[in-house]
Amino acid sequence: MKIGIIGAGNIGATLANLFIKAGHAVAISNSRGPSSLKDLVKALGDNAIALSVNDAAAFGEMVILAVPWRKFEALPDPVLLKDKIVVDAMNPYKEGGGLIDLGDSTSSEETAKHLPGANIVKAFNTIWFKHLAESGRSDLPLKERRAIFIAGDNVECKAKVSHLIEEIGFAAIDTGNLHDGGKLQEPQSELYNKEITCEEAHALLKN
Ligand SMILES: NC(=O)c1ccc[n+]([C@@H]2O[C@H](COP(=O)([O-])OP(=O)(O)OC[C@H]3O[C@@H](n4cnc5c(N)ncnc54)[C@H](OP(=O)(O)O)[C@@H]3O)[C@@H](O)[C@H]2O)c1
Repeated sequence: MKIGIIGAGNIGATLANLFIKAGHAVAISNSRGPSSLKDLVKALGDNAIALSVNDAAAFGEMVILAVPWRKFEALPDPVLLKDKIVVDAMNPYKEGGGLIDLGDSTSSEETAKHLPGANIVKAFNTIWFKHLAESGRSDLPLKERRAIFIAGDNVECKAKVSHLIEEIGFAAIDTGNLHDGGKLQEPQSELYNKEITCEEAHALLKN
């Protein structure tokens, strides 16, 4: 699959590496432009290219959002994401720390308002990038792998993201739709940054 990644920091670069190891092609982008990503792309290998934000969005059959959530100006032109699976890995932190109060809404529902027509799946937001880099275990059966939580309104899109999560050595746990599941995945929730297996995650969600 061709995957576009918006953001080349802790989460964007870590996912790029994992996706490439799983056999996918990645276009990665940041605010400073492709020339600033030469070293990263070289380290990632032949299946990686650096592009502008909009070109990375156009490249991807699936697109990952891994920029500071509050910076909506960092998002690609919504037209380029229409009907695509867009994975929102972002969390609603203020500049300098602390959470932005979203009332009854969730960060991914707010992201979706900026990207009409995109199929938003909230994933990778609950796992610290170092755990993401190091905890994948493709050799283990799914129930013993570390859980990565996903939420979204489209079942088929969630299935594709779940498959990708499994390819990089984790197990995907569906928390529900973008609103209810999204709430369960927000920072300070019981699932956030929780180092648990798939089996433990299912038990936790049943309670
Ligand atoms: N760190 C984690 O462990 C972790 C875990 C789960 C989720 N998250 C979430 O993932 C997101 C990224 O976190 P991070 O830790 O990876 O941040 P980071 O290391 O600071 O990287 C942020 C990336 O966003 C890019 N960016 C910023 N403004 C931009 C703009 N206007 N246009 C294009 N790109 C822009 C930056 O590019 P430049 O460097 O060129 O400005 C950089 O590549 C956040 O929403 C965070 O809450 C983080």
